[in-house]
Amino acid sequence: MESKRVKKAVIPAAGLGTRFLPATKAMPKEMLPIVDKPTIQYIIEEAVESGIEDILIVTGKGKRAIEDHFDSVPELEQILIEKGKSEFLKLVEETTNINIHFIRQSKPMGLGHAVLQAKAFVGDEPFVVMLGDDIVQAETPCTRQLINQYEITNSSIIGVQPVSDEETQRYGIVDLSSSVSETLHKVKSFVEKPVPGTAPSNLAILGRYLFTPEIFKYLETQEPGAGNEIQLTDAITRLNEMQRVFAYEFNGKRYDVGEKLGFIRTTLEFALKREDLGDDVHKLMIELLENRLSLIEK
Ligand code: G1P
Repeated sequence: MESKRVKKAVIPAAGLGTRFLPATKAMPKEMLPIVDKPTIQYIIEEAVESGIEDILIVTGKGKRAIEDHFDSVPELEQILIEKGKSEFLKLVEETTNINIHFIRQSKPMGLGHAVLQAKAFVGDEPFVVMLGDDIVQAETPCTRQLINQYEITNSSIIGVQPVSDEETQRYGIVDLSSSVSETLHKVKSFVEKPVPGTAPSNLAILGRYLFTPEIFKYLETQEPGAGNEIQLTDAITRLNEMQRVFAYEFNGKRYDVGEKLGFIRTTLEFALKREDLGDDVHKLMIELLENRLSLIEK
């Protein structure tokens, strides 16, 4: 059977962002910039580069700035045209030529519940879910890699990568059944945030999913799980019992921008890679390190 084309993406962005308080008191965490670009824009760019045509962002209270960011700003564009600032104009326009839709999750009831809000938008098509806390830099965009696997298997594909033993408790972890290839695995079950020492493997779900529309059947009847929230991971386990779900070890470097140290690391690494900033940031880092070392030596 020929697989359907994957054209839609869902980005849950309803979380409260408590880890970044007070910055997130009045500003959505998805708008925090890595250097000069909001984190959610990296996700949207990956979607577009992967061939996605329509994106639904699931928002909540206090998330207006996300909608504004992807809207046009005629006054600003006019001023930039008049001042001949074409490079800035390009940056402003880049975020407005994409089909982005919004829906609100009225109560924060968990990731599974957020994805369920996309049911009418998705209809009877395969679709991807992309989490904003995970930015992936890869030669072939991560979402495109998942779509490529879907086109071979016609099945739901969950993006995974190994994490350390200490980190397994922060993620959805895969209990493998057997491997189809070095990177594609059949799965027994998925365990959300296992208690330390009980993780069935080190392969963690890292914010990229491709689902057949059948996932909604399970989300609709999903009971709350870990943290008393409706967990996407639990619905995937039930889907896998009826219809094969594969875990796919994607290629690329994944950055965790959902916690402070990961956010700082991402900012530094991205700044170092920038042509206009890299050398200066490099010098700055050496200077800061030398200052710190001399303080320690005293
Ligand atoms: C969510 C998912 C978890 C996944 C993680 C990836 O957890 O529930 O399965 O491994 O994203 O970042 P959260 O980070 O929202 O706690």
